[in-house]
Amino acid sequence: MKAIGYNSYGGIDKLQILEVESPKPKRHEVAVKVSAISINPVDLKKMRGGFKPITSIKKFPIITACDFSGEIVEIGNDVGAFKVGDKVFGMQDILFNGSAAEKITISQKYISLAPNNFGLSDSAAIPQVGNTSLLALRNIASLRKGHKLLINGASGGVGTFALQMAKIYEADITAVTSDRNIEWIKNEFDIENIIDYTKTDITDTSDKYDIIFDANGNLSFPKISNSLSTNGIYVTTKFNIYNNIDTAKQFFKRKKSRTVLSGRTSTSNLDMFRMWMEDGKLKPVIEKTYSFDQYHEAYEHLSSGRAKGKLLIKIN
Ligand SMILES: NC(=O)c1ccc[n+]([C@@H]2O[C@H](COP(=O)([O-])OP(=O)(O)OC[C@H]3O[C@@H](n4cnc5c(N)ncnc54)[C@H](OP(=O)(O)O)[C@@H]3O)[C@@H](O)[C@H]2O)c1
Repeated sequence: MKAIGYNSYGGIDKLQILEVESPKPKRHEVAVKVSAISINPVDLKKMRGGFKPITSIKKFPIITACDFSGEIVEIGNDVGAFKVGDKVFGMQDILFNGSAAEKITISQKYISLAPNNFGLSDSAAIPQVGNTSLLALRNIASLRKGHKLLINGASGGVGTFALQMAKIYEADITAVTSDRNIEWIKNEFDIENIIDYTKTDITDTSDKYDIIFDANGNLSFPKISNSLSTNGIYVTTKFNIYNNIDTAKQFFKRKKSRTVLSGRTSTSNLDMFRMWMEDGKLKPVIEKTYSFDQYHEAYEHLSSGRAKGKLLIKIN
């Protein structure tokens, strides 16, 4: 069967169509005929060998991507929650498995039934960015109604999910994006407070936020600390030594800094996303769906850092 992946670490020029063996599910796994995948910046990091110290036991070829949606075609003996024919969406663990293949196997713990009010392919846009936002905003920052929340990188994959989630939680949202996306964010997500980072340095404003979610990851705790309210928290998607040294120093301080790590999802998190989608509160935000053969173009666009929402690749 066909997959998209690489035989050595490097840039996206290493990506190729691979011919690999069709996998068989283990006892607790299902086999999924993949409908679509979505791609994430973490795929590029893994491709460059960014997780090599941990993943070196994994042999080439490596199949890229983690997000997917598709239909179950086979189940292992211990699988009780799903059956053949179920339409599902989910996320492979980012370190050791990939999703960009005609058929994949995955533990039943990392999938859920796909929402019934969107095309099956579209739900591939959700798992990784949803999981990241949920861990950052709900688990780490304890987001509540009325919290003053700043989302930096609001137009990207993580940002567009975080915006919608923050609306569900009824937060007081300020979005940070560039001039090209201001009108779009205003109209698409009904957000009033928007800062154009190309014109305004957000660290210069006198506004204070209970939560700053740095979805883009280009800020840092020392830089943004003055914009936090007394008990405010800064949550970033990027590991940054300054943030984490500060985390140690912050033990007795009120302002906090944390890094979110979304390596795996869970059925219960995915169930929540499905419920929000079926209730009409959340939608997949997809800039473009590429065909299987256009994988290179899709990753080129992702690596520009300018994607608007998510990029999908159709598999089957
Ligand atoms: N730690 C984790 O577990 C985890 C999980 C998921 C993602 N991440 C990381 O989170 C980051 C964002 O992921 P993503 O999927 O949202 O990426 P993405 O979709 O590629 O983000 C693209 C968006 O970033 C915006 N952007 C670029 N430069 C910016 C800046 N200086 N200030 C504000 N916005 C800016 C762009 O808007 P403009 O075109 O308007 O500039 C574009 O819409 C990546 O670094 C990714 O590796 C980490």
